Amino acid sequence: MSEDPNTEAYGQEIAAAIEAAASLDDIARIRVAALGRNGVVTQWMRSLGTLPKDERAAAGARFNQLRAGIEEKLAAAAGRFEAAALEARLKTERVDITLPVKAEIGGRLHPISQTIAEVVAIFGEMGFHVAEGPHIEDDFYNFTALNIPPEHPARQEHDTFYLPDIAGRGERKLLRTHTSPVQIRAMLKDKAPIRIIVPGRTFRSDHDATHSPMFHQVEGLLIDETTHMGHLKGCLIDFCRAFFALDHLPVRFRASYFPFTEPSAEVDIGCSRAGGELKIGAGGEWLEILGCGMVNPKVLEYGGIDPARYQGFAFGMGIERIAMLKYGIPDLRTFYESDLRWLRHYGFLPLDIPSMVTGL
Ligand code: DAH
Repeated sequence: MSEDPNTEAYGQEIAAAIEAAASLDDIARIRVAALGRNGVVTQWMRSLGTLPKDERAAAGARFNQLRAGIEEKLAAAAGRFEAAALEARLKTERVDITLPVKAEIGGRLHPISQTIAEVVAIFGEMGFHVAEGPHIEDDFYNFTALNIPPEHPARQEHDTFYLPDIAGRGERKLLRTHTSPVQIRAMLKDKAPIRIIVPGRTFRSDHDATHSPMFHQVEGLLIDETTHMGHLKGCLIDFCRAFFALDHLPVRFRASYFPFTEPSAEVDIGCSRAGGELKIGAGGEWLEILGCGMVNPKVLEYGGIDPARYQGFAFGMGIERIAMLKYGIPDLRTFYESDLRWLRHYGFLPLDIPSMVTGL
């Protein structure tokens, strides 16, 4: 280096350039010109070795000071531009949180959940409340107290899943084969009068196109001093018409047998099967949808209720069955396949809560 570089003048020149910079790009360009690999200050530092020995230390100190001053001004200017850019972005980029959620993103209620909610809404309006019981039951509640003694043929018909006798007391627990044991639990716990509806899971060792080892039922029980079969009929006719949303749906009570009711009946609704297509409410044919009857006095006794003072009626139906009929779902097995396409087709919007006021 021939002449002594004027670091002071260069420092002022760079300070003015930084002051005049209009963008982060300008700042980057100034940095390269001054401090880059071939920048002015870098070259001066590189040339230190060519200076006479006694001048080197002082010159080195001046160059370092110059470089530090430029670094500091560049950083301050860059910070200002970055803050301004962020401010501008925050002003223009706003998320509109008022946009409606896309239906595809929301979940669907399974038809079983929906159907249970509908049944509960209808009987809730008639003053019934929901009761529940355990899936793992004692033989006593599932059979004996329902007037199904140990040798009764109904025990074979139920295809029961038994659990191992782990306590070694000769008593095997079982998976409840129907929701009826909750009748006994409610009687023993609440005493009369009773007005309950019991939706829940039930289990039978049975598997084909119309049977699943796990399925759902809903049980009903009403006990009071003056309850009679007219109440049973009125209540279930109203239920069928409300559930299928058909004011004039024909409903028929056909004599039947259940150990826990006396007399017992099965309820059929009017339908037509003309042309192979099932149509509910039309035509002169019948379709069975539930079982019912007046509670057998022996069952009241097992439940600790005096049959001389109280009488009641009970009913039970399959949730999958009434859901298939109402919503035209052809195959029982699809209920448990967890196929999202199926759920999107047959499922319900979660906020579409069934009620007798808004409609089912
Ligand atoms: N528990 C019966 C079943 O699983 C259904 C049933 C029929 C329940 C008549 C009742 C009733 O309460 O009265 O097949």
